[in-house]
Amino acid sequence: MIEVSHLVKEFTNEGKSFRAVDDVSFHVNKGEIYGIIGLSGAGKSTLVRCLNRLEEPTQGEITIDGVDILALNKKDLLNQRKDIGMIFQHFNLFLQKTVYDNIAYPLEIQKWPKEKIQERVHELLDFIDLKDKEKAYPSALSGGQKQRVAIARALATSPKILLSDEGTSALDPINTRMVVDTLKKTVRDLNTTIIMITHQMEVAKDICDRIAVMENGKIIEENTVENLFRAPKTKQTQNFISSLRETDVHEPALDLEKYQGRVLRLAYDDKTVGKPILSRCIKDFDVEINLISGNMNRVDVKDFGYMNVEVLGDPDQVKKALDFMKETGVYVEVLK
Ligand SMILES: Nc1ncnc2c1ncn2[C@@H]1O[C@H](COP(=O)(O)OP(=O)(O)OP(=O)(O)O)[C@@H](O)[C@H]1O
Ligand SMILES: [Mg+2]
Repeated sequence: MIEVSHLVKEFTNEGKSFRAVDDVSFHVNKGEIYGIIGLSGAGKSTLVRCLNRLEEPTQGEITIDGVDILALNKKDLLNQRKDIGMIFQHFNLFLQKTVYDNIAYPLEIQKWPKEKIQERVHELLDFIDLKDKEKAYPSALSGGQKQRVAIARALATSPKILLSDEGTSALDPINTRMVVDTLKKTVRDLNTTIIMITHQMEVAKDICDRIAVMENGKIIEENTVENLFRAPKTKQTQNFISSLRETDVHEPALDLEKYQGRVLRLAYDDKTVGKPILSRCIKDFDVEINLISGNMNRVDVKDFGYMNVEVLGDPDQVKKALDFMKETGVYVEVLK
């Protein structure tokens, strides 16, 4: 549905040009939620803004449902933008307008008749479950409610695509949950395709089908959410995921100094979850294994999780135990 190939966006600063997006190619299927993660300055926002030409790409191709986006003239581009909604970290609502008027705004721009606007706004208020707030002003809403209004406004013209640039980043966990649920419902009920930038691991895990990792303007890795978190291919992604882990409320950072033995992070998926791998190691290799911390997740219908363990014993035996774990299909990361 969305095809991006060899996209480049250069900025020129004081005569020097700089590639914020550097030869990026990817595709997103209809009804998919595609996540983009990466450090600050990686080029995520610039990439996403190129999709509706809020930034004009320097080079490359973008096709959406067969339409060559970069070939559109101004008028056709404005028309095409109806198909692409966008939400932002700080909601960008009109503070002097009521919830109703905020949602009605894109329809007024499109010169919809009044009755049609009213019908559509009520439908959207129902969709975001905020029917009782139609006359409220944004200042009287929680962050999550504001973002749901922003989603309703973005969905007003029934776009095929919704772009979210850190749409849940400014919210507490409960409001994040509500917005995530609204986004899921958008895909489920309206078959919208979502591209979302996020730095919240829980959000990425919970909602994305696939994730791209950006660094220095490039996509350095792309995978399904379970494979990316279970077995990141590049060092940068591993580091990035570790940095996310540290901010994950469920997993405090490990103090590696505290441990005498090898410290391993074992990640397993639905194929390895139920296997008695640790007990086999203890029996067969005469090592001791101390459980440090762990977590289980459910992504759609698949379970996956990790366990941080300390392995003590004869170095040869420890190595054999490690090889055995790898053979069984567990992804082993040596932390110490
Ligand atoms: N209009 C601009 N002019 C010049 N440089 C820009 C412009 N917009 C972005 N950049 C630069 O492009 C790079 C990528 O910026 P971008 O905002 O896309 O990063 P990001 O991955 O979204 O970061 P963050 O996570 O902080 O939002 C940065 O180095 C930024 O300074
Ligand atoms: Mg950004």
